[in-house]
Amino acid sequence: MSEIEASGPNEAQIEYWNSWMGERWVQNQEDLDQLLAPLSEAAISAAGVRRNERALDVGCGCGATSLVMADRGAITTGIDVSRPMLEHARTRAEGRSNPEFVLADAALHEFNGDFDLLFSRFGVMFFVEPVAAFANLRSALRSGGRVCFLCWQPADRNPWVSVPMAAVLPFLPPSEPVDPRAPGPFAFGDADYVSDILTQAGFDDVQAAPLERPLSLGQNATIAAEFVTRIGPVSRVLVDLDEARRNELVAEVRTTLSPYERAEGVALGAACWIVTAVNP
Ligand SMILES: C[S@@+](CC[C@H](N)C(=O)[O-])C[C@H]1O[C@@H](n2cnc3c(N)ncnc32)[C@H](O)[C@@H]1O
Repeated sequence: MSEIEASGPNEAQIEYWNSWMGERWVQNQEDLDQLLAPLSEAAISAAGVRRNERALDVGCGCGATSLVMADRGAITTGIDVSRPMLEHARTRAEGRSNPEFVLADAALHEFNGDFDLLFSRFGVMFFVEPVAAFANLRSALRSGGRVCFLCWQPADRNPWVSVPMAAVLPFLPPSEPVDPRAPGPFAFGDADYVSDILTQAGFDDVQAAPLERPLSLGQNATIAAEFVTRIGPVSRVLVDLDEARRNELVAEVRTTLSPYERAEGVALGAACWIVTAVNP
């Protein structure tokens, strides 16, 4: 596979997705795809994927949604900055000519303007200069081409993150307040802000429809606590801890999740936006 240089405005994100986080997404790909399936099914259905159209999957990661769109007959290209995740995506697509994968920064990549659909499952909230990035993504679409992507509503609307996070934060040193719009999973929590970005980037008919689903975190509180501290926003705040301290905090999360245990497992709510728009 070609290399990607960590440079340009998204340098830090490129480094990050090529570091432990990219590897961790690869190791947890099956669990993550299962976790996100109720959300991606709704988004792919909202995208109205058609046979023989050309689809671009932005921040495709390990390729789950690229594979689904290709299975539905769209000629699909996944683009991502993470070499380990893209290598995994290519392994999953081995022996197939569709989807194909491109290792590049979607904010800067030179597109040909021949895509009909720009799709993403949680892969477009990491641009340092989002208006410029979406203007570049618009250049990937033919005139009349459409956008459909999933992004998270704010963390406090996502108990699957906020509940375990509340269990660990009191035990961690206070952190500097961060800009809620800084690149990261919750950067697009404010739908008006997202709408402004797409409008400034030249898109028409921008809409954000709420999507809420329970997410299944594990069969019991022990498995769920282990899962949410291994991957995702809670794992990020635990990454620098030594093993003993980390284990203590995983136990705190387990205690917090216990009241949510049901016969079918531990499920907590998730809220996202399905954002749609059209390239005039
Ligand atoms: C939260 S993950 C989602 C991955 C995948 N869409 C999924 O749902 O499994 C975010 C993805 O966006 C990718 N990404 C971040 N910044 C990017 C950029 N500038 N260009 C392309 N991909 C990017 C990351 O490498 C990562 O794979």
